[in-house]
Amino acid sequence: MISTDISKANEILLKNELVAIPTETVYGLAGNAFSDIAIKKIFELKKRPFYNPLIVHLKAASSIFDVASEIPESAFILAEKFWPGPLTMVLNKQDHISDLISAGKKTVAVRVPKHPLTLALLDQLDFPLAAPSANPFGSISPTSAAHVFNYFGEEIEVILDGGECEKGLESTIIGFENTHPILYRHGSISLEEIEKITGKLSIRTNNDSSPNSPGMLSRHYAPMTDTYLTNDVSALLNFFEGKKIGLLLLKKTIQDNQIDCQEILSKSGDYTEAAKNLYAAMHRLDQNKLDVIIAERLPDEGLGKTINDKLERATKKV
Ligand code: TXA
Ligand code: MG
Repeated sequence: MISTDISKANEILLKNELVAIPTETVYGLAGNAFSDIAIKKIFELKKRPFYNPLIVHLKAASSIFDVASEIPESAFILAEKFWPGPLTMVLNKQDHISDLISAGKKTVAVRVPKHPLTLALLDQLDFPLAAPSANPFGSISPTSAAHVFNYFGEEIEVILDGGECEKGLESTIIGFENTHPILYRHGSISLEEIEKITGKLSIRTNNDSSPNSPGMLSRHYAPMTDTYLTNDVSALLNFFEGKKIGLLLLKKTIQDNQIDCQEILSKSGDYTEAAKNLYAAMHRLDQNKLDVIIAERLPDEGLGKTINDKLERATKKV
């Protein structure tokens, strides 16, 4: 059921059942982070492999001490700057954090989400919420309560409706190696913005065999429809004659009677607006029974880089 009733959500969580929660990035599938019963249900419902660890959502930065230890100085500085907000940090975990959450690693991923409904819910609870994005493993992340309902229907008793997600892309993930910050996943805070605080970051966003982050798997966030990413949409169109084609474009439509539908991410070419619209546009295209989706590569700067990264993981290479 789609609802805004946080006391009902609270009740369900206390029974170690799951609820979907809005965040500023994407919707999460949430359960009690201190209950293995709840955590197992998250993996089962998402059909997520157990090697992919979960993010723990805290009510406030001060709760970091309940879950993490040996926190590097730069983590406090990043938390001060970006929390509540779309920054996830991978820190050494406390011993009581379940191996299910951390996928057997010695670390735990944490963030304080920035959404009034979810913060109000967290405030009523005496445990943090483990929550991956509320989509079946490998599918496009949901940015509205309706997206979550389309995936799971009544399998989730309460989907808290917090409207459309403000950012529309997952959180940026930073880890630390010998206290040195490393980028694990491009997200809704651009690399440039983080580097203003940390200086030049090492980037480790690709690792298929033992992913530090599933966002690192080379195919992820994928529509069901075959999707291609290209710098030159018009040129690629010629290769799909007679096919039902949908386009995903930054700001301008293309005139060509071969095209069935087109999604424009931001008429003014603004990356923040494009990020917010990206997944909803991908969901819509994917529902149009197309043969192919052709997506336009964005300039590799700011959030353009994050959008390209998500599109690359959603697409076939040309
Ligand atoms: O914006 C977001 O981060 C959303 C909202 C719901 O908060 N959540 C999200 O969760 O995107 P999920 O599960 O789809 O992605 C979590 C990422 C994965 O790439 C996972 O591998 C990484 O966090 N992660 C979690 N624990 C980790 C750890 N201990 N070490 C490295 N990566 C970790
Ligand atoms: Mg996800």
